[in-house]
Parts: sequence; C-alpha cells; structure tokens
Amino acid sequence: MNENYSDNQIGRARVQDSPELLAYYKELETLGAGALWTVANDIEPWEPRSSSVPMLWKYDDLRELVLKSSELVTPEQAGRRVVYLVNDKRKDVSAAVGWLYTGIQVTRPGESTSAHRHKASALRFIMEGEGGYTVVDGNKITFEVNDFVITPNSAWHEHGVDPNGKTCIWQDGLDIPLVNALEANDYAVYDGKQALVNQVNYYPINYGCAGLIPADKVWDKPYSPVFKYSWKAVYPALTEALKVNEVNQIDGILMHYSNPLTGGHVMQTMGASMQLLPAGFKGKAHKHTGSFVYQCAKGSGYSIINGQRFNWKERDIFCVPSWAWHEHHNTSETDDACLFSFNDLPVIEKLGLYQNREYIENNGFQNIE
Ligand SMILES: [Fe+2]
Ligand SMILES: [Fe+2]
Repeated sequence: MNENYSDNQIGRARVQDSPELLAYYKELETLGAGALWTVANDIEPWEPRSSSVPMLWKYDDLRELVLKSSELVTPEQAGRRVVYLVNDKRKDVSAAVGWLYTGIQVTRPGESTSAHRHKASALRFIMEGEGGYTVVDGNKITFEVNDFVITPNSAWHEHGVDPNGKTCIWQDGLDIPLVNALEANDYAVYDGKQALVNQVNYYPINYGCAGLIPADKVWDKPYSPVFKYSWKAVYPALTEALKVNEVNQIDGILMHYSNPLTGGHVMQTMGASMQLLPAGFKGKAHKHTGSFVYQCAKGSGYSIINGQRFNWKERDIFCVPSWAWHEHHNTSETDDACLFSFNDLPVIEKLGLYQNREYIENNGFQNIE
C-alpha cells in the first residue's frame, strides 16, 4: 500500500488551471456536467474522513433544562418531548455524530406519548426514574435505570410512566440522519393507544433469559425478540466475564447486545454495546470506521479522542466520530466504570466498509494536545 498521502503524484488529480481549462469547465457546467479531476482528490480521500467533531454533553449541565421541557410543553404538543444533542459540525442533518441522532427525553408520572412509527430505528437507554414503559407493536415493556430497549424500524411505539412512578429520563438513539440521507424515511401516527396483544414483558421474558429460546414460537422479524436488556442481568454478565478473561488492552471487557437467534446486532441499522473498564484501567488507542455515541452507565473516567481529553461520569454522553483515534480510561483505582454505546456498525459491516487500526506510537497512548 502506498502510504504517501501527497496528491502531487501519478494516480491523483494534479491539473493546473489555465484560461482554456476554465472556459472548458464553464461549458461543462452549463450541461450539468463537470471534469472529475477538479473534485476527485476531495471526494476520494486517502483515508476515511468524518465531518463530525468529538463532543461531550455533561448531564449536570443538561438535566435541569431537560426537566424544564416538561413544564413548557406536553408530550401531546411536542409529539416527542426531547432535547436533542447535536454535533457542532452536523447541525444541517441534526446528527450527534456521523449519521446518528441522539436526544434526552423526559416523561412525568402518569404521562404517555401518542403512538407512532417511522422507518428510522430507535433505541433507548434509561437514565433515571421509576415506572417507565414502552409499548412496541402492542407489547408493553417496563424498564429501569441502565436498561437498554429497542423500538425497531416500522414498529408502532409509545412510551409512558406509571402514575405511581417517578419522572423518567432516558436517552433516545435513532438513525434518522442515515435514513434521511438514503431518502427512505417515513412517519405515521397511530389512531389512539395501542391495544396490548400479550402479557407485560412477554418478549423479554420469553427470549431474554438464560440463553433459552422457546421451542414452540416462530420469530421471523429482522431484529432481536429480546427488546429489553436489563442492567440487572447485563452488569453481572460483565463482572463474571472479567473473572475469566484477560482484559482487552483497548476496550476492557466489551460485549455487544445481540439477537439470540442470529448472534448478530439487535437491529438492522444500529448496534449497541456495554463495556466494563476495570478499576485503574488505562485503555490503549485505536480507530475504526463507524460512528459511536456513548453514555457512561457507571463510574467515572475520561476518553482521549483525537488527542483531546473528555472527562466523563455517570450519565454523561459523548461521541466518537468515524476513524477518530480514541482510548478510554477509568480514573478510579477501586471501582469499575461502564460505558454504554450505540453505533452504525450493522450498516458499515454489511456494506463491507469496516476497517480498524491500532495506535502504535507511544506504547499505544495518544499525547494530549
Ligand atoms: Fe419514535
Ligand atoms: Fe473503538
């Protein structure tokens, strides 16, 4: 492979402008055409290029404003009462990073949203509260803090909080920017509330326990029938895995939420993971394609992303753009830290676009700029 990234070499466009060429370009432009060599180096970068910047959203700063939204508008007025987090360089597509959207939604006890569906897939990671639930295609699923829940592409869904519960706040993750970029999104509003078609938590109970799959049920949807991944099962899975594994030098103990029927990602366009950074863990840097949104589920630490340090603690949200160097550190010498993340890896992988690279210099650790 040629590691010389200069555009001043054979094989790259290096035509000098001349009066004759400029006139020629103008003539092409009038016909809706152009000379490839005037744009080739730009549209075909030597390496993956992200227009997003690494960003951190501190929950302490946002929480009051998120709660305030519940005094200013009702879920009925807003449709979805969400404060969305937008990347400084992706405001044009309302993305948090790459082609991924994220937001923070608040629901008070007794409130519920109207049901709707869209071609964008959605997921939630619960940040605080009690008595929250979602109804997906007529299936009511209750959730607790640090639970991970999916509402896949085209599934009817509505959310609420039990009247006896406590105000719930959760992070939404959607691939709205991606589906819009592909010009394939749609949206529909359900007439009234969905009628429940099964007992509460029917699918998480049937498919999410002990590695067992019901023998008498058929599941033919292209997403995980588990729907809810409970923190009370996920955290022990990570701490048990820590006991029997050598810790990965880059990611600590990293596990993907998966569809038990395929072993693959939970949905067609978005995947999600939980990783445990043991006490004192100092992760080495790497980079790969795919965009990532993180939420700290437990503990505190920092990540260095393209040479910039971002300190995070429980509930803070940050993003790692495609092909950005990143490394994660747990600052506690006594407690583990856990990072939830979601990503567009199913798309990247299916299209054959995944690549990764480890940081070799400085024993694998970036210098902070
Ligand atoms: Fe939705
Ligand atoms: Fe990574």
